[in-house]
Amino acid sequence: DIHRASTTAPVNIAVIKYWGKRDPKLNLPTNSSLSVTLSQSDLRTHTTASCSASYSKEDSLLLNGAPQDVSGARTQACFRELRALRSQLEDSDASLPKLAALPLKIVSENNFPTAAGLASSAAGFAALVRAIANLYKLPSSPTDLSRIARQGSGSACRSLFGGYVGWEQGSASDGSDSVAFQVAPASHWPSMRAVILVVSAAKKGVSSTTGMQTTVATSTLFASRASETVPRRMQEMQNAIQNKDFETFGKVTMMDSNSFHATCLDTYPPIFYLNDVSRAAIKVVESINAAAGRIIAAYTFDAGPNAVVYYLEENEKEVAGLFKTLLGEKDGWKGERGEKIEGNFA
Ligand code: DP6
Repeated sequence: DIHRASTTAPVNIAVIKYWGKRDPKLNLPTNSSLSVTLSQSDLRTHTTASCSASYSKEDSLLLNGAPQDVSGARTQACFRELRALRSQLEDSDASLPKLAALPLKIVSENNFPTAAGLASSAAGFAALVRAIANLYKLPSSPTDLSRIARQGSGSACRSLFGGYVGWEQGSASDGSDSVAFQVAPASHWPSMRAVILVVSAAKKGVSSTTGMQTTVATSTLFASRASETVPRRMQEMQNAIQNKDFETFGKVTMMDSNSFHATCLDTYPPIFYLNDVSRAAIKVVESINAAAGRIIAAYTFDAGPNAVVYYLEENEKEVAGLFKTLLGEKDGWKGERGEKIEGNFA
């Protein structure tokens, strides 16, 4: 017989960026970070995990129908940790089926074009870890699962929670205290929206993993970002979320994105994630805010040129409206909590 469980995990978009590892093997970061998890109906990965004695010996993973390599250290770490927890359960209760010893088959689908170059490893590893935990009927909390998903991809630990989510960098060398925590549920500030501008569908030039390692090794701006700037902003951001203070939320979001990309430029050889269209998007946000006389829109960019713009529902017309006009409403689609527009400024 085949044992099976499914789950979905959404993408999260950081407003305080994770950039730098103090331990690349365990994905332990050099600073805490904070993100907003999109709703389940937006960008997400759906994953089914199954295991059976009838499967061929090897574990396998299909992503959007294509076989993926599961021999990498990150995927292996997730499998190993989850199997160890299942084995403990089986050791303590002899009536449980022996699932830990069986080959795993993981089938994942993204509901957005993988080619769009949008962060998918976060949703991917979060869904993979939770699907296997469900399959194994583990009593693990989201915090426990975040500790495991972090080893798959750092940012994945934040997608185990909905709403406004922090990732505490922790200080333990085994990573036991480097976990995600919920700052506030989505319902706390339900008018938050995000529009994603797909500037380029190309795959990123420098991967996050490689980029952060080079930054840690060469950037002179990096040390003060990690030790002073980010710790202060983590506090400011948590307060802004508690107080539903969009001006501070937006300002800190934009400044932290700029700080992260400045650190990338300060890396040697330099890393450029933003392009001319990204910079045009920044100018549009600046002009929206100038016209409003306050901050009603905030941009942020990950390790690529695509812009994510946060705004509140009541300012939908001014913010998404202006972008829509610029983009000519090309290839747009609307999710439950955010508007996604594909296209560029051409
Ligand atoms: C710029 O989580 O993809 O999106 O741990 O090496 O898998 P690995 O890195 P990853 O890095 C994300 C970097 C970022 C900022 C963020 O999401 O916090």
